[in-house]
Amino acid sequence: MISTASVAMKAAELSELMRRRRSLRTYRAQPVPKEFLGQILEAAVWAPSAHNRQPWRFVVISRAATKERLAREMGAKLRGDLSADAVPPAVIDADVARSYQRVTEAPLLLLLCMSLQDMDEYGDERRQAHERTMAQQSAAMAGQNILLMASSLGLGACWMCAPLFCQDLVVSVLDLPADWRPQGLITLGFPAQQRQRERDSWETRTIRR
Ligand SMILES: Cc1cc2nc3c(=O)[nH]c(=O)nc-3n(C[C@H](O)[C@H](O)[C@H](O)COP(=O)(O)O)c2cc1C
Repeated sequence: MISTASVAMKAAELSELMRRRRSLRTYRAQPVPKEFLGQILEAAVWAPSAHNRQPWRFVVISRAATKERLAREMGAKLRGDLSADAVPPAVIDADVARSYQRVTEAPLLLLLCMSLQDMDEYGDERRQAHERTMAQQSAAMAGQNILLMASSLGLGACWMCAPLFCQDLVVSVLDLPADWRPQGLITLGFPAQQRQRERDSWETRTIRR
């Protein structure tokens, strides 16, 4: 029988893990051990998913040349988007440089994708859109498992939304199956920074009925 004390201890450990996970954006050059990568991906696939269809797909990116090409191509797209918004050139240069540095300097990148291949198909766009949302929600839950497992292994990680803004480009650069839709790029590595960010109380985000 599980004692109340051991339940409380497990809950405290989980709470600690969730609070300790922070988005860390600078890493030491030390590579991420192969066994850590396996543990992280194993954690990812234990996320819940709509109809248990497991619509997540992962691309492991460790080659410097691939990181460089991805960073360069996404940077060019970012530059184009910001120029169209008439953002000042100096701000664009800084944004593009920061993004390039983050992608190329992370020891390991995990591109989180989702696929509709095994999801239900509807004849109408209303239900199809909801089915797509469920696939995205499922992939995001896998993403959270990745972030939590990375944190528990002592790694830093950060979700970057950049690929979402240029999905076709990323599919083409990485030569991915056409049904893989990029959702987020997770940078991983041993942290070179510490970070603490406060949260608003859940009470400010909750209504009781
Ligand atoms: C869907 C999503 C997209 C994000 N995109 C970015 C991003 O493009 N760049 C970035 O630096 N952080 C990004 N983040 C990280 C958030 O900025 C971060 O989670 C938030 O500031 C809270 O900080 P914490 O993760 O340290 O608690 C993203 C997080 C999520 C969940």
